[in-house]
Amino acid sequence: MTIRAFVIGHPIAHSRSPLIHGTWLGEHGIDGSYEPIDVAPEALGAFIARVRAGEFAGGNVTIPHKEAVFALCDEVDPLARKIGAVNTLVMRDGRLFGTNTDYMGFLGNLDAGAPGWSQGLDAALVLGAGGAARAILVALQSRNIPVILLNRTRSNAERLAGELGGNITVGEIEDFNTVGPGAGLVVNTTSIGMHASRFEAFDLAVLRADTLVTDIVYVPLETPLLAEARARGLRTVDGLGMLLHQAVPGFEAWFGVRPEVTPALRAAVETTL
Ligand code: ATR
Repeated sequence: MTIRAFVIGHPIAHSRSPLIHGTWLGEHGIDGSYEPIDVAPEALGAFIARVRAGEFAGGNVTIPHKEAVFALCDEVDPLARKIGAVNTLVMRDGRLFGTNTDYMGFLGNLDAGAPGWSQGLDAALVLGAGGAARAILVALQSRNIPVILLNRTRSNAERLAGELGGNITVGEIEDFNTVGPGAGLVVNTTSIGMHASRFEAFDLAVLRADTLVTDIVYVPLETPLLAEARARGLRTVDGLGMLLHQAVPGFEAWFGVRPEVTPALRAAVETTL
């Protein structure tokens, strides 16, 4: 019997997940499908009822359903709860399980692109305190890495740090040049790269030579932050790998095979950017 999985969103046409999962299904010769399905907010409940009835092994959830789907799960894993969003659903023994693979994608991307990056890391400097930053902070906390969280609006960073607890020091974007030397990892979670005027004050020369710089934005693939870091000889990891690696745990849960993030897959997805 064909194993079916889905990605639901509204709209859904631009999702790259069908390409990723479709490639893996083909590679492994699995009798399965991964179907993009447009589900409007008012239709979410009815769609989840179809999942519960056994039509699908599970699937991905994207905008605008990541928060709403929470209440429809029988169980949500603790880290997804902390992040406040579910992006992956799995039917297990008739129960609907929700998780968030974004934090796994972030860690998997760095593990693949900069092996050993978290060993002995003194602190991570995270730029931005929005929805995307939550998954990054939870990921870093899962490896016991202290965080320096810088945000344009300090109060947003303070609220987020308060909600998550743990070792998070809060500052403003302008503090970059002061605190930068103390961080072995810099993560940009804002959608603006270094285009915006607020980032013009950054002096990447303050960073240590062993600092790893990553951006979770992947359009453009080489953000201005990454381009400058690379020009300065710093190690960089771009954000496309996070998208690819976050898809791994879902595929494994639905289809029973752990897929590989290969250069060929990356190249295929890159052509769609
Ligand atoms: P996402 O879900 O992608 O994280 P978001 O929740 O809207 O999107 O968060 C956007 C983040 O980018 C926030 O940290 C925001 O800073 P504020 O809290 O001050 O709004 C940051 N951001 C957006 N535009 C920015 C800009 N022009 N300069 C600096 N930071 C910016």
